[in-house]
Amino acid sequence: MTQASYISFPASPQNGTVAPVRIKRDQDDNAARVPIYWPAGFHGDPYLMELVDTLVQRVSQFVETGTDSGSTVGYVARMYPHIACWSCEASKQVWEIASKNLECHPNVHLENLLSASLLGRIPYTEHALFWLDAHSHGWGGKLDEERALILDRWPGGYIFMDDFQVPGRPELGFDWYESDGPVNWDNMGKAVKSHPKLKALYYPKYPPPHGTRGFGLLVFGDASIEGLPEFLVEAK
Ligand SMILES: C[S@@+](CC[C@H](N)C(=O)[O-])C[C@H]1O[C@@H](n2cnc3c(N)ncnc32)[C@H](O)[C@@H]1O
Repeated sequence: MTQASYISFPASPQNGTVAPVRIKRDQDDNAARVPIYWPAGFHGDPYLMELVDTLVQRVSQFVETGTDSGSTVGYVARMYPHIACWSCEASKQVWEIASKNLECHPNVHLENLLSASLLGRIPYTEHALFWLDAHSHGWGGKLDEERALILDRWPGGYIFMDDFQVPGRPELGFDWYESDGPVNWDNMGKAVKSHPKLKALYYPKYPPPHGTRGFGLLVFGDASIEGLPEFLVEAK
């Protein structure tokens, strides 16, 4: 599967139509970028943070792809210091900035790696919460490969797929790869969709805070689906 280029659709609560932002593959456009470090993670979305607070009690590892400034992994490391946090950033320059931002957190392991490489080399014996957010800035990224690697290796956990198209919610932004179409369930590969460990897919059903993007939450392995908040809806 090749991903010739990437288009990001921001949320557009006004009329549901937006001009796509195109970014060419294999072209690191991070050179002049100084990512901003925010004290809150997960887009500052209070529902998402509440959901994470529920799920993180059931895991001992947090794994993020795409560190950027380190806002989300820094938030998790600060709020849950007993959790081992792993994150990777493809851009050396951005990784160096994030490393400085996160140096006060001994539970953060930050690598200057592509996402699939990180998932292929970190410990995978514990239950984990994943925040798959490596996209854009020309690095490509093979989403299905990453999802399948997680399902194959880890015993169970929760996979947040950020920038995922939520059916019936045009006001929520999502990504679009020119060669593969929108990042959504229909375009997910068979290796993931029919993986024996896959248990359920959930979408948000709460109203968006300003600028919110869509996500999908996969539950897999022996991770529990009990006690999930009512602001999620299970995909049928
Ligand atoms: C949306 S930002 C991540 C934001 C961060 N996860 C957070 O929540 O604070 C995406 C980042 O992923 C990086 N990136 C893109 N593709 C990647 C890949 N295949 N592997 C690792 N990093 C990647 C980009 O350079 C960019 O810094």
